[in-house]
Amino acid sequence: MSAQIGVTGLAVMGANLARNLARNGYTVALHNRSVAKTDALLAKHGDEGDFVRTETLRELVDALEKPRRVLIMVKAGAPVDAVVDQLVPLLEEGDIVIDGGNSHYQDTRRREAALAEKGLHFVGVGVSGGEEGALNGPSIMPGGSKESYDALGPLLEKISAKADDGAPCCAWIGTDGAGHFVKMVHNGIEYADMQVIGEAYDLLRSASGIEPAEQAGIFEEWNKGELSSFLIEITAEVLKHVDAKTGKPFVDVVVDAAGQKGTGRWTVQSALDLGSPVSGIAESVFARGISSQAAQRAIAQETLAGHEAEVAVPENFVEDVRQALYASKLVSYAQGLDMLGAAGKEYGWDLKLDEIASLWREGCIIRAALLKDIMAAYKGDSRPANLLFAPAFVESIGRAVPAWRRVVATAVQLGIPVPVFSSSLAYYDALRRKRLPAAVIQGQRDLFGAHTYQRVDGEGTFHTLWGEDHSEISAVDTH
Ligand code: 6PG
Repeated sequence: MSAQIGVTGLAVMGANLARNLARNGYTVALHNRSVAKTDALLAKHGDEGDFVRTETLRELVDALEKPRRVLIMVKAGAPVDAVVDQLVPLLEEGDIVIDGGNSHYQDTRRREAALAEKGLHFVGVGVSGGEEGALNGPSIMPGGSKESYDALGPLLEKISAKADDGAPCCAWIGTDGAGHFVKMVHNGIEYADMQVIGEAYDLLRSASGIEPAEQAGIFEEWNKGELSSFLIEITAEVLKHVDAKTGKPFVDVVVDAAGQKGTGRWTVQSALDLGSPVSGIAESVFARGISSQAAQRAIAQETLAGHEAEVAVPENFVEDVRQALYASKLVSYAQGLDMLGAAGKEYGWDLKLDEIASLWREGCIIRAALLKDIMAAYKGDSRPANLLFAPAFVESIGRAVPAWRRVVATAVQLGIPVPVFSSSLAYYDALRRKRLPAAVIQGQRDLFGAHTYQRVDGEGTFHTLWGEDHSEISAVDTH
């Protein structure tokens, strides 16, 4: 029996994707560096579908129908290169190597180009949804050549999550690293989304004195409205959880230092290269960084003055926080999507933002009711220059602004850090502002470095002779 797809790397994500494929009727060849893992999977789940046990990559390749499809599910970075190097000599022209890990899109572009020279397809696939999603239906973001998608797409679409309207949460994203790029930005939005929820929790607890168990009920309520999303849902579960050992809320016994594997950081690094202002996403990465600076935090608690003001918490503060959370969350999506627009131009990807929003509707970590409206906002020819300019969002974010300002002002007075709430509001206000202080910066640049400037009242590039008589000359901006 020849298998339709092979999976190498059977840690949880690989094993669950293999099981998902088998449960959907595909014959799956299995390989892992240590055979014990393959055997454990077969012993436990071998009856879920048709699997072919292999011990070596040679056996894996020989077990596959042509063109061969080999899914690599190993740790991002050097391990992917190691497997690719071993696989390539065993493959034939037209075969497809798939990397389903969280690889950096530049690595994917490099690997795609290298394999294309050998007549092989390399497909970087973003997979979101954690272990549960991998097994029952993830959101899938494949890159690589269109031709490879013709051979691979049907399998991926079959195992992907399905949206309300039955559409698979999987679509070809674009060439080379486009799939991994979109997955990376998904994770950037994920970081911001998680941080704004954290900020809402902190405000409700520190400003309003609402304990975690009671907050769980509030989040459950919020999950019924416009904030409805996977992350709000699981936050209610986390807040409700009581530590068995101490009887304390679980969130009080967990060290408040957030870990990170790198995709959020990559998003910000790439955004800086693209000149994309993803301020909320960046703040969420920095917030994780500060949380992990235990030594400095300990010193600061002893030494730095707070001078918190004794302000009354506004009436209906819970509702205010809900609205601020909604607005900040929307800004994170707007920034992430804006970055995708910039990347599309830079890398020549024709990224379809409506399709991307569509395949984020189910299966992935940032799945949210909101994505249906985001998808609608980018449908047809009416692609807004920024998500916030879509009529539906102009209206909904506008409604949230008074509460958003109250929440940020209250947080500042009380000394509660809300980096994403406040930077998102600053982004919103900066976009709206008629005159930004950037003119002063242009003046400074021109003064100390003759960097030149443009005038509001005409074409051209100018320089003021600051060290002489302050007269203005026409100049060419060479900096
Ligand atoms: C997903 C997630 C996943 C990610 C984890 C951990 O979409 O399923 O984004 O791919 O690896 O969420 O990320 P951090 O350790 O960086 O928080």
